[in-house]
Amino acid sequence: MKHKVIFDTDPGVDDAMALLFLHKHPEIDLVGITSVFGNASIETTTRNALYLKREWGIPAPVARGANETFDPSRPHAGWPTFVHGDDGLGNIGVPDDIGLEPDPRPAHRFIIETVRANPGEVTIVAVGRMTNLANALKEDPEIAGLVKQVVIMGGAFDVPGNVTPAAEANIHGDPEAADHVFLAPWKIVVAGLDVTHQTHMKRGFLDDMAARGGADVKLLQKVSDFYIKFYAHAVEDGMLVHDSCACVYVVAPELFELRSGAVRVVCGGIADGQTIQKPDGMQFGPSEWDGKPSHAVMVGVQPDKVLGLLSRTLAP
Ligand code: RIB
Ligand code: CA
Repeated sequence: MKHKVIFDTDPGVDDAMALLFLHKHPEIDLVGITSVFGNASIETTTRNALYLKREWGIPAPVARGANETFDPSRPHAGWPTFVHGDDGLGNIGVPDDIGLEPDPRPAHRFIIETVRANPGEVTIVAVGRMTNLANALKEDPEIAGLVKQVVIMGGAFDVPGNVTPAAEANIHGDPEAADHVFLAPWKIVVAGLDVTHQTHMKRGFLDDMAARGGADVKLLQKVSDFYIKFYAHAVEDGMLVHDSCACVYVVAPELFELRSGAVRVVCGGIADGQTIQKPDGMQFGPSEWDGKPSHAVMVGVQPDKVLGLLSRTLAP
């Protein structure tokens, strides 16, 4: 039985690799792509999702998502063009007009209707701001009981953040949305910087995949060049494959070590967007974590095996 997956994404260079993995893996049935703002504006991330759909022949529809935070009073932040490029895909020159139209429904409606049409079967993999998921929960809270599982890329638990010392980008970009998502009674598996910062892909590894692979992987190689140059500060001639960690978990959970416990998100102040887990069984005094749903935070990973699975899938 294939995993039915809705991919909620802000493409985004590492999002692109994750999307190609979901498209190509034989155990995944990619039933939808929902765009969200984050690495770029909603116009750009939606255009990029449609571009990758066209270039890679992905049948799944693209539904356009949120362009403002769950709390609309939050001031607009800028886009990390220094990471993903002005066009969100490494400045490769993505055309403005892709010649494809998004699904007529907004992303959160697409999520609700797809989950209700496939009760208990849909895995949501969310690798941008959590805004679409929060909007879907707000409109139809019952979906929390109808989703098979939720796997997200976001947060930083036992390591520093990447936007501030406290916060990781996907959570920092919409803290209220993330806290709303973590408070819902569904089971979330969280791929935070704790594991994605251990998962380095060297340029040579990508070049080898591109040499063995088809035009799809060669496009991924082209898209990734700008992002690899950004990551020179953290990885020697390579990049962090953040979003792919969440996707790999769906088909190979054994490659990750999990810790269960309620997760809350700091909203406001100097630690705005910080993710904090209260591990199950730890005794504290009364706190804001009491009685909240436990989620599975990734605290360990086998990076080489993650990379190996990516390679075998992207360039078999
Ligand atoms: O912090 C890394 C996350 O932020 C990744 O999902 C990347 O694509 C950006 O969205
Ligand atoms: Ca992303």
